[in-house]
Amino acid sequence: MTRPLSVGIAGLGTVGAGVLTLLRENASVVAAHAGRPIAVTAVSARDRSRDRGIPLTGLRWYEDPVALAADSAIDVVVEVIGGSDGPARALIEAALAAGKPVVTANKALLAVHGAALAAEAERRGVALAFEAAVAGGIPVIKALREGLAANRITRVAGILNGTCNYILTVMRERGREFAEVLAEAQKLGYAEADPSFDVDGIDAAHKLAVLAALAFGRPVDFKAVHVEGIRHISALDIAFAGELGYRIKLLGIARRTDAGIEARVHPCMVAQTAPIARVDGVFNAVVAEGDFVGRVMLEGRGAGAGPTASAVVADLIDIARGRFTPVWGAASDALSHAPSVPMATHVGAYYLRLMVVDRPGVIAEVTAVLRDLGVSLESMLQRGRSPGEAVPVVLLTHETGEAGMREALRRIAALDTVLENPTLIRIEPA
Ligand SMILES: NC(=O)c1ccc[n+]([C@@H]2O[C@H](COP(=O)([O-])OP(=O)(O)OC[C@H]3O[C@@H](n4cnc5c(N)ncnc54)[C@H](OP(=O)(O)O)[C@@H]3O)[C@@H](O)[C@H]2O)c1
Repeated sequence: MTRPLSVGIAGLGTVGAGVLTLLRENASVVAAHAGRPIAVTAVSARDRSRDRGIPLTGLRWYEDPVALAADSAIDVVVEVIGGSDGPARALIEAALAAGKPVVTANKALLAVHGAALAAEAERRGVALAFEAAVAGGIPVIKALREGLAANRITRVAGILNGTCNYILTVMRERGREFAEVLAEAQKLGYAEADPSFDVDGIDAAHKLAVLAALAFGRPVDFKAVHVEGIRHISALDIAFAGELGYRIKLLGIARRTDAGIEARVHPCMVAQTAPIARVDGVFNAVVAEGDFVGRVMLEGRGAGAGPTASAVVADLIDIARGRFTPVWGAASDALSHAPSVPMATHVGAYYLRLMVVDRPGVIAEVTAVLRDLGVSLESMLQRGRSPGEAVPVVLLTHETGEAGMREALRRIAALDTVLENPTLIRIEPA
């Protein structure tokens, strides 16, 4: 058999330790698929004394991850430290400059610096692989870039954050509020102590930026992604969604429009009958729509040591085999320069939930605002009566422009009879 592929891993946390474990336990399967053994020979982490539940004897240890890139006995560098800058970025830049292929699981770094890093990888003629960066164990990068390469992709949408999907699922199943479910998820280790990357939609936006670049063959453009999280979703909205035949999911959606590429992460009302509406708990899913293939959906575990290691090692197998694809699917001179379109130009249907004082004329005031802004209503729902008290009212609109809807929301929120901040959720076609 050919010489083993020699791998250096920087970062020995959840993912790094998972990669070591997989390469040991599945060594023969991996070697058969790679055409040669894949052997980790050097590692880097901060704390050498920490027990990682896996023996590190015989592996060269580097305090400084950047030194891995300079180790002449290493063929490939795996970056699983994390963070959009700092040591992760320095390591990847050093490895590419040394002409070494890189495998990373780091969506934050790819979203922010992916365009420059991909250009550098292309200049050096080496792979920059990142299957694990989006949707963990789901092979969505390969599916979009290679399996669907013959298609013009029109839309890609996904449940890209397992923490948010878990929280929304538990809120629905148990009728509980966001804050209590988040606290419980933190106790169970499904949510970080600082949950903002997850629950404010940033992690999903990083992944969507990468998916949009692949789907539409253009450099990654994270700044253009519109981002909203799930903190404002209440048990009441989830219950109304159910009554109306929807589920609330945090989706990342990138769509080709006549004006350019729309990319957005926000809670969505999705028809209960849509396959993606049934993806629950910590699971992720990605739906891609291509002009010849139609709709394809992939579902699986988006995080965790095993699924993420599965994706990292798949990339290592490609490298061992010498399989090589440009980072965004096409060489830089063949990339598209389709502009990103702002959220204000989005057109769609909306769910609007208000708490209003139950007295005559209130609904007329609200509908007058909508009429003035050209927003047409599809239906309205009011549950219970409680004269003089607060009651919820739900309005569903026909397709309308985001800018008008935002202005309507502002004017409605300012009405004396509207008691809390209204909740606005976009209705996403299945
Ligand atoms: N966890 C998942 O399920 C998952 C899924 C998909 C993608 N990812 C991505 O994979 C990457 C790693 O995630 P993770 O969950 O494995 O993180 P983690 O458990 O926090 O591990 C990070 C590792 O990096 C090491 N490290 C930090 N700073 C370092 C430095 N300056 N020099 C050398 N080593 C350093 C840490 O060393 P010490 O152990 O010594 O502190 C630790 O071993 C991130 O980009 C993440 O977004 C994770």
